[in-house]
Amino acid sequence: MRRKMTILLGSPRRNGNSATLASSLAAGAAEAGYEVQSIWVNGLKITGCIDCRRCWTNGTHCFLNDDMKSVYSAIDLSSVIAFASPLYFYSWSAQIKPVWDRLLPYFSPNSKVDARGRRAVLISVAGDSSASCFDGLKKSFKLACDFAGWKIAGEILAYGLHAAGDASGRKEWLDKAFGLGKKL
Ligand SMILES: Cc1cc2nc3c(=O)[nH]c(=O)nc-3n(C[C@H](O)[C@H](O)[C@H](O)COP(=O)(O)O)c2cc1C
Repeated sequence: MRRKMTILLGSPRRNGNSATLASSLAAGAAEAGYEVQSIWVNGLKITGCIDCRRCWTNGTHCFLNDDMKSVYSAIDLSSVIAFASPLYFYSWSAQIKPVWDRLLPYFSPNSKVDARGRRAVLISVAGDSSASCFDGLKKSFKLACDFAGWKIAGEILAYGLHAAGDASGRKEWLDKAFGLGKKL
Protein backbone atom coordinates (compact mmCIF):
# COMPACT_ATOMS: atom_id res chain seq x y z
CA MET A 1 0.00 0.00 0.00
CA ARG A 2 1.32 3.50 -0.85
CA ARG A 3 2.04 5.75 2.06
CA LYS A 4 -0.40 8.59 2.27
CA MET A 5 -0.05 12.23 3.30
CA THR A 6 -2.85 14.74 3.80
CA ILE A 7 -1.97 18.42 3.40
CA LEU A 8 -4.43 20.86 4.96
CA LEU A 9 -4.22 24.20 3.18
CA GLY A 10 -5.26 26.97 5.55
CA SER A 11 -4.92 30.12 3.46
CA PRO A 12 -7.78 31.88 1.71
CA ARG A 13 -5.32 32.69 -1.10
CA ARG A 14 -5.21 29.89 -3.67
CA ASN A 15 -1.96 31.25 -5.14
CA GLY A 16 -0.58 32.21 -1.73
CA ASN A 17 2.79 31.51 -0.15
CA SER A 18 1.77 28.67 2.16
CA ALA A 19 0.11 26.90 -0.78
CA THR A 20 3.23 27.38 -2.91
CA LEU A 21 5.46 25.83 -0.25
CA ALA A 22 2.90 23.08 0.31
CA SER A 23 3.10 22.25 -3.42
CA SER A 24 6.86 21.81 -3.10
CA LEU A 25 6.36 19.59 -0.07
CA ALA A 26 3.83 17.55 -2.04
CA ALA A 27 6.18 17.24 -5.03
CA GLY A 28 8.99 15.98 -2.80
CA ALA A 29 6.69 13.54 -1.03
CA ALA A 30 5.37 12.23 -4.35
CA GLU A 31 8.96 11.52 -5.42
CA ALA A 32 9.40 9.62 -2.17
CA GLY A 33 6.40 7.45 -3.10
CA TYR A 34 3.65 9.14 -1.13
CA GLU A 35 0.12 9.51 -2.32
CA VAL A 36 -0.67 13.13 -1.45
CA GLN A 37 -4.11 14.62 -0.91
CA SER A 38 -4.28 18.38 -0.51
CA ILE A 39 -7.43 19.87 1.00
CA TRP A 40 -8.39 23.54 0.77
CA VAL A 41 -10.14 24.13 4.06
CA ASN A 42 -11.14 27.69 3.12
CA GLY A 43 -13.81 26.50 0.70
CA LEU A 44 -15.25 23.97 3.13
CA LYS A 45 -17.96 24.36 5.71
CA ILE A 46 -16.24 23.33 8.93
CA THR A 47 -17.72 24.59 12.18
CA GLY A 48 -15.73 24.79 15.38
CA CYS A 49 -16.07 22.02 17.96
CA ILE A 50 -19.18 22.59 20.09
CA ASP A 51 -17.93 20.43 22.99
CA CYS A 52 -21.06 18.27 22.92
CA ARG A 53 -19.11 15.18 24.02
CA ARG A 54 -20.93 13.10 21.45
CA CYS A 55 -17.84 11.97 19.49
CA TRP A 56 -18.56 8.59 17.83
CA THR A 57 -22.01 8.27 19.43
CA ASN A 58 -23.69 8.13 16.02
CA GLY A 59 -21.04 5.79 14.62
CA THR A 60 -19.00 8.52 12.95
CA HIS A 61 -16.22 10.76 14.21
CA CYS A 62 -18.38 13.77 14.95
CA PHE A 63 -22.01 14.55 15.58
CA LEU A 64 -21.78 17.68 13.42
CA ASN A 65 -22.63 16.93 9.83
CA ASP A 66 -20.42 19.17 7.71
CA ASP A 67 -17.41 19.10 5.40
CA MET A 68 -15.10 17.89 8.14
CA LYS A 69 -16.24 14.44 7.03
CA SER A 70 -13.93 14.57 4.01
CA VAL A 71 -11.04 15.69 6.22
CA TYR A 72 -11.65 12.78 8.60
CA SER A 73 -11.70 10.34 5.68
CA ALA A 74 -8.34 11.64 4.47
CA ILE A 75 -6.73 11.72 7.91
CA ASP A 76 -7.95 8.22 8.81
CA LEU A 77 -5.74 6.81 6.05
CA SER A 78 -2.74 9.13 6.33
CA SER A 79 0.52 8.43 8.10
CA VAL A 80 1.60 12.07 7.64
CA ILE A 81 -0.57 15.15 8.18
CA ALA A 82 0.75 18.53 7.07
CA PHE A 83 -0.70 21.81 8.30
CA ALA A 84 -0.02 24.72 5.92
CA SER A 85 -1.17 28.00 7.43
CA PRO A 86 -0.34 31.64 6.95
CA LEU A 87 0.64 33.28 10.22
CA TYR A 88 -2.37 35.35 11.31
CA PHE A 89 -1.83 37.37 14.46
CA TYR A 90 1.02 35.06 15.45
CA SER A 91 -1.17 32.00 15.28
CA TRP A 92 -3.17 29.72 12.94
CA SER A 93 -5.45 31.16 10.29
CA ALA A 94 -9.13 31.19 11.25
CA GLN A 95 -9.71 28.79 8.37
CA ILE A 96 -7.52 26.00 9.76
CA LYS A 97 -8.08 26.40 13.50
CA PRO A 98 -11.53 24.72 13.49
CA VAL A 99 -9.93 21.70 11.84
CA TRP A 100 -7.60 21.35 14.80
CA ASP A 101 -10.49 21.54 17.26
CA ARG A 102 -12.49 19.00 15.29
CA LEU A 103 -9.62 16.48 15.58
CA LEU A 104 -10.88 15.86 19.12
CA PRO A 105 -12.74 12.62 18.21
CA TYR A 106 -9.40 10.94 17.50
CA PHE A 107 -8.41 11.54 21.10
CA SER A 108 -11.63 10.72 22.88
CA PRO A 109 -11.52 7.54 25.00
CA ASN A 110 -14.09 5.83 22.71
CA SER A 111 -12.22 6.65 19.50
CA LYS A 112 -12.61 4.10 16.73
CA VAL A 113 -9.48 5.28 14.92
CA ASP A 114 -6.12 5.13 16.64
CA ALA A 115 -4.38 8.25 15.33
CA ARG A 116 -1.43 8.08 17.67
CA GLY A 117 1.98 7.57 16.11
CA ARG A 118 1.21 9.66 13.02
CA ARG A 119 3.73 12.21 11.83
CA ALA A 120 2.96 15.89 11.43
CA VAL A 121 4.46 18.68 9.36
CA LEU A 122 4.07 22.41 9.87
CA ILE A 123 4.34 24.91 7.05
CA SER A 124 3.79 28.53 7.90
CA VAL A 125 4.56 31.80 6.18
CA ALA A 126 4.67 35.34 7.53
CA GLY A 127 5.26 38.89 6.49
CA ASP A 128 7.53 39.59 9.46
CA SER A 129 11.27 39.86 8.94
CA SER A 130 12.38 37.52 11.73
CA ALA A 131 11.82 33.86 12.55
CA SER A 132 10.78 34.75 16.11
CA CYS A 133 7.31 35.65 14.81
CA PHE A 134 6.62 31.90 14.71
CA ASP A 135 7.42 31.27 18.39
CA GLY A 136 3.78 31.07 19.48
CA LEU A 137 2.66 28.94 16.54
CA LYS A 138 5.60 26.56 16.98
CA LYS A 139 4.76 26.13 20.65
CA SER A 140 1.09 25.52 19.87
CA PHE A 141 2.04 22.95 17.21
CA LYS A 142 4.43 21.14 19.54
CA LEU A 143 1.98 21.00 22.44
CA ALA A 144 -0.81 19.80 20.13
CA CYS A 145 1.42 17.12 18.61
CA ASP A 146 2.55 15.99 22.07
CA PHE A 147 -1.10 15.74 23.13
CA ALA A 148 -1.98 13.81 19.97
CA GLY A 149 0.98 11.45 20.24
CA TRP A 150 2.26 12.69 16.88
CA LYS A 151 5.92 13.02 15.97
CA ILE A 152 6.92 16.26 14.29
CA ALA A 153 8.48 15.25 10.97
CA GLY A 154 9.58 18.76 10.04
CA GLU A 155 8.75 22.44 9.93
CA ILE A 156 9.10 25.05 7.20
CA LEU A 157 8.68 28.51 8.68
CA ALA A 158 9.24 31.09 5.97
CA TYR A 159 9.23 34.78 6.79
CA GLY A 160 9.54 37.98 4.76
CA LEU A 161 6.69 36.89 2.48
CA HIS A 162 3.85 39.34 1.91
CA ALA A 163 2.28 39.30 -1.53
CA ALA A 164 0.70 36.12 -2.80
CA GLY A 165 3.46 35.35 -5.30
CA ASP A 166 6.43 36.09 -3.02
CA ALA A 167 7.32 32.48 -2.19
CA SER A 168 7.66 31.54 -5.88
CA GLY A 169 10.88 33.55 -6.09
CA ARG A 170 12.36 32.18 -2.87
CA LYS A 171 14.30 29.11 -3.94
CA GLU A 172 15.71 28.49 -0.47
CA TRP A 173 12.24 27.93 1.03
CA LEU A 174 10.98 25.97 -1.98
CA ASP A 175 14.01 23.66 -1.85
CA LYS A 176 13.60 23.19 1.89
CA ALA A 177 9.96 22.20 1.47
CA PHE A 178 10.75 19.85 -1.42
CA GLY A 179 13.62 18.31 0.58
CA LEU A 180 11.39 17.75 3.59
CA GLY A 181 8.79 16.02 1.42
CA LYS A 182 11.45 13.81 -0.10
CA LYS A 183 12.78 12.60 3.21
CA LEU A 184 9.43 11.86 4.82
C1 LIG B 1 -5.40 38.74 8.98
C2 LIG B 1 -3.93 38.69 8.77
C3 LIG B 1 -3.10 38.59 9.87
C4 LIG B 1 -1.72 38.53 9.71
N1 LIG B 1 -0.93 38.41 10.81
C5 LIG B 1 0.42 38.35 10.66
C6 LIG B 1 1.26 38.22 11.81
O1 LIG B 1 0.80 38.13 12.96
N2 LIG B 1 2.60 38.20 11.61
C7 LIG B 1 3.16 38.30 10.36
O2 LIG B 1 4.39 38.28 10.25
N3 LIG B 1 2.38 38.38 9.25
C8 LIG B 1 1.03 38.41 9.36
N4 LIG B 1 0.21 38.48 8.25
C9 LIG B 1 0.84 38.40 6.90
C10 LIG B 1 0.73 36.99 6.30
O3 LIG B 1 1.18 36.00 7.21
C11 LIG B 1 1.58 36.91 5.01
O4 LIG B 1 1.08 37.81 4.06
C12 LIG B 1 1.60 35.52 4.41
O5 LIG B 1 2.55 35.48 3.36
C13 LIG B 1 0.24 35.07 3.89
O6 LIG B 1 0.28 33.72 3.51
P1 LIG B 1 -0.53 33.14 2.25
O7 LIG B 1 0.08 33.79 1.02
O8 LIG B 1 -0.29 31.66 2.29
O9 LIG B 1 -1.95 33.51 2.43
C14 LIG B 1 -1.15 38.57 8.39
C15 LIG B 1 -2.01 38.68 7.28
C16 LIG B 1 -3.37 38.73 7.46
C17 LIG B 1 -4.27 38.84 6.25
